[in-house]
Amino acid sequence: LDNGVSRTPPMGWNSWNHFWCGINESVVMSTADALVSTGLASLGYKYVNLDDCWAESETDENGKLRGKASTFPSGIKALADYVHARGLKLGIYADAGNRTCSNQMPGSLHHEYEDAKTFAEWGVDYIKYDNCYHDGTRNREVESSYYMEHFLQRNCIFLRGQEDPATWAGAYGHSWRTTGDINDTFASVTWIADLNNRWGRYAGPGRWNDPDMLEVGNGGMTMDEYRSHFSIWSLMKAPLLIGCDLRSVSNRTLRILGNKEVIEVNQDSLGVQGRKLRSKDGLEVWAGPLSDNRVVVVLWNRSELRALITAVWRDFGLPPNTPAIVRDLWKHKYVSMNKRDRLTASVAPHACKMYVLTPLQS
Ligand code: GLA
Repeated sequence: LDNGVSRTPPMGWNSWNHFWCGINESVVMSTADALVSTGLASLGYKYVNLDDCWAESETDENGKLRGKASTFPSGIKALADYVHARGLKLGIYADAGNRTCSNQMPGSLHHEYEDAKTFAEWGVDYIKYDNCYHDGTRNREVESSYYMEHFLQRNCIFLRGQEDPATWAGAYGHSWRTTGDINDTFASVTWIADLNNRWGRYAGPGRWNDPDMLEVGNGGMTMDEYRSHFSIWSLMKAPLLIGCDLRSVSNRTLRILGNKEVIEVNQDSLGVQGRKLRSKDGLEVWAGPLSDNRVVVVLWNRSELRALITAVWRDFGLPPNTPAIVRDLWKHKYVSMNKRDRLTASVAPHACKMYVLTPLQS
């Protein structure tokens, strides 16, 4: 959506991938504190997003959504105040159908306007709008207009996986899911990356494909696999929504989520989604243009054996013999180049190398 919001992909944290329905206000408040104390907030992670199960199972006597008394006793407005006091923003979860996907709280069908108004009153900055239990009686334009009235200056997510949202959701929101739910395995990361890759041309400033939230730090993958996950999500200009428990985050996880050079690729002002250029036997070259004629390149080894992977200049439209400065974003070092038309690296199984190339005028 072209209204000045979300010119680069949103960054923050969401409760679902780690906590599922087991959230409460103390978890969310400590997470907001952790975003600040770990330094992640100052790297751009500013949204603190509640996912499903934050509300009471039924609306109140006036039909209003309310925070679940047993887990959010202070209410959502107080939570928004807490989060705002730390310089962060609060996101919330709602659903276009009768019930949310967990079936544990009401959806917004036929009271979209009231719910959007409630969120605005609470000071909510961002909404993830899911699509479970929809009966088809409202069309998306009507639904979305209620939300837009209240969220024009906010960040809206529309999740309508069944209907190829990339083809329409950019008119209503700033990002949309392109896939089903991620899980904390390498197989899921590769599968989802490939699905999201198909929609690349629909992305741009204010409209992002969302291949779902990050699993980095949740324990199911190796550090190499998490680095690959984070590198490819950044290259694809995916929303960077952390999905682990930040109250006890390890330093090695922080080194991945806090890699400033990789984040800068994701937040680059050009806003073009990088894509898969070549793939053979699980050895892949992904790349995309960045501002100032630079190029981001990921050499990704999905196979089970260490292998050499090569990207050649013509893969990204550079004439051979173009000298370039090459920066390794995980080693934080410049690479000394002995070839002027290719980049080759030995890559461990499931790992990747990530570079930014700055071509020089020859
Ligand atoms: C759907 C969404 C998930 C999460 C759950 C909550 O499955 O895709 O991201 O929001 O609902 O129930």
